[in-house]
Amino acid sequence: MDQYFVVGNPIKQSKSPVIHHLFAEQTKQSLNYDKKLIDDDDFEQAISRFKKANVKGVNVTAPFKERAFNLCDELSEFAAKAGAVNTLIIEEGKIKGDNTDGVGLVNDLLNHQVSLSGQRILILGAGGAAKGVVAPILDHQPSQLIIANRTLKRAQDIANQYPNKAIDVLTFDELANVSVDLIINATSAGLNGQSLPIPPSIITPSVICYDMTYGKELTPFLTFASQAGCEKLIDGLGMLVGQAAQSFYLWRGVMPQVKDVIDKLRAQM
Ligand code: ATR
Repeated sequence: MDQYFVVGNPIKQSKSPVIHHLFAEQTKQSLNYDKKLIDDDDFEQAISRFKKANVKGVNVTAPFKERAFNLCDELSEFAAKAGAVNTLIIEEGKIKGDNTDGVGLVNDLLNHQVSLSGQRILILGAGGAAKGVVAPILDHQPSQLIIANRTLKRAQDIANQYPNKAIDVLTFDELANVSVDLIINATSAGLNGQSLPIPPSIITPSVICYDMTYGKELTPFLTFASQAGCEKLIDGLGMLVGQAAQSFYLWRGVMPQVKDVIDKLRAQM
């Protein structure tokens, strides 16, 4: 049976095995998918062992996405732009790297009837999570893309990756005079119990607020957005399932349906 893994450190929390087994059941594919904790000094060797053992594919999560990028024989355009890889496809002794996070986000937004084309989009944060989604968002031709970050240089570094696109780089303070249609939180502030210093004036009832993180309760960013008057709040559970669906498609050539899987995970939370 074809074997797949998700690797990271920590990895206990990963829902990927559950998601991929649900996809396999739905699409009648025969495969096995397990999670594996990898020591910090063992990542490259672990991937090499997988390759020798004829493992077909690997999902890579924190903190190894940049190291996965560095060990690939070939990279997709999205992976090359992101500088990070979350999906390894092992074929004929070669490792191809892709990044499905951005496709997962964009598809989840489209599933929520949120269009990107012609819209003014604000990304909060300029770390790995933000970097991974910029290229697929730009492919949908927003009228404006702003990246706001506490450390301005990191946002500027992302913008510099796209010399032919006009990406605006702002501090959180500068957002006070800005108006947008969609705000995507790609910071890790909420995960660490910290709040974001964004001006509430940017959130109006018609703005859509998306948080790449998710939880049983409304996330801190979505709670803030709700209190500031936002009426359409979306968390990142659909993005998680969407990036997995795109990895599954790259490996198996079949695109699974995400809705039932998202509903099942939501019910288990
Ligand atoms: P990830 O891979 O999850 O993106 P990361 O690369 O460490 O993790 O990036 C975390 C992001 O959250 C960064 O944009 C970070 O801002 P800095 O670049 O200034 O560090 C942002 N972030 C984390 N905690 C924050 C906080 N309390 N306020 C504002 N931004 C925060």
